[in-house]
Amino acid sequence: MTALAGARAQIRDISLENIASLAGGRLGDPSVIPLWFGEGDLQAPDLVGEAMRRAVSEGHVFYAQQNGVPRLREVLAAYLTGLGTRPVGPERITVSQSGMNSIMLALMLSCEAGDNMIAVDPVWPNAGGAARLLGVEARTVRMDFSDDGWSLDPERVAASIDGRTRAVFFASPGNPTGAMLPMDVQAALLETCRRRGVWLIADEVYNRLAFGREAAPTILDIADPEDRLIVVNSFSKAWAMTGWRLGWMVHPPSLAQTLAMMTQYTTSGVTTFLQHAGAAAIREGEPFVAAMRTHCETGMDIVCDALERLPRVRLGPRPQAGMYVFFQVDGLADSRAACADLLARTGVGLAPGAFFGPGCESFLRACVCRDRAALEEAMRRLSAALA
Ligand SMILES: Cc1ncc(COP(=O)(O)O)c(C=O)c1O
Repeated sequence: MTALAGARAQIRDISLENIASLAGGRLGDPSVIPLWFGEGDLQAPDLVGEAMRRAVSEGHVFYAQQNGVPRLREVLAAYLTGLGTRPVGPERITVSQSGMNSIMLALMLSCEAGDNMIAVDPVWPNAGGAARLLGVEARTVRMDFSDDGWSLDPERVAASIDGRTRAVFFASPGNPTGAMLPMDVQAALLETCRRRGVWLIADEVYNRLAFGREAAPTILDIADPEDRLIVVNSFSKAWAMTGWRLGWMVHPPSLAQTLAMMTQYTTSGVTTFLQHAGAAAIREGEPFVAAMRTHCETGMDIVCDALERLPRVRLGPRPQAGMYVFFQVDGLADSRAACADLLARTGVGLAPGAFFGPGCESFLRACVCRDRAALEEAMRRLSAALA
């Protein structure tokens, strides 16, 4: 029996396709302008590395508390309390190895094999992939796309909940759309989940990349501490720490012990000195977050200026948050083939719409978190190919 044949059924059910598999041999090819992944060209500020080295030399190199080192949890609690309108205490925070790890823990906590979870899509495919890995059916409810942009009718989410639904997942600001769900829509989702006894998993990893404001609207402003709500966050995006693998989750205080045990039995905790670096990022990294936000906003303008000149492209209003443009191309029926073709012809790497949900075959996603010269060159090449 081969290893794959012996793998558990749900592992065979996960998609083996991702951007890396579509890129063929061209990952890291210097002639490619890489707008396909969800990371940019800025590096985390030096203060983060310095704090990490300091933590090592101060001896923070032993096992840490399973919910995270107290210092980082306190720093995160103060940070979230300062950003929002309701206080968030450290007893509601568990440090994780990333936003992805937070999503996996949230799903493990809320769902069992045979259950289903509903994701608001277009959505980052890893949320559904994590569900399938657990034997949980990943369903989607699609946002509407019109000339006014992306919007969600929360009633459609309510209508799709059935006896096996254990969790609803949404990201705001979204990947790939950049759409921010208005507070009344988030409130309606929360109310539905309260009524139906379903967990709500709110992914806020892009919440500091909302243009012209400090942060995107957060569901923490309207939720009670004991709501069945898990808010997922990460250092990857606003602090450019994708390779550091550090995130956190906000959860009901009554779940802290359970999450400590789940951490114990999966990773036994996040690298101790890394957590000290995370505390420095939160406390001293605000100038960097502001620069990152401006970088994304400038990139958004460059890419949208070019796309809006192309008659075949439909964009809706420019995204006001996040690091992506998700645009529709008239006549495009196979977004994977289109990405492969554009890569071969232009050397620009894009992500296919099909990755982000059923019905997105005519869309492409570009990451705008790049310097001006790279984006202008990418758009020069793409404009000719998409004309
Ligand atoms: C919506 C969303 N959530 C979570 C993540 C996970 O980020 P990380 O695992 O790097 O913290 C990503 C990464 O692209 C994302 O787009």
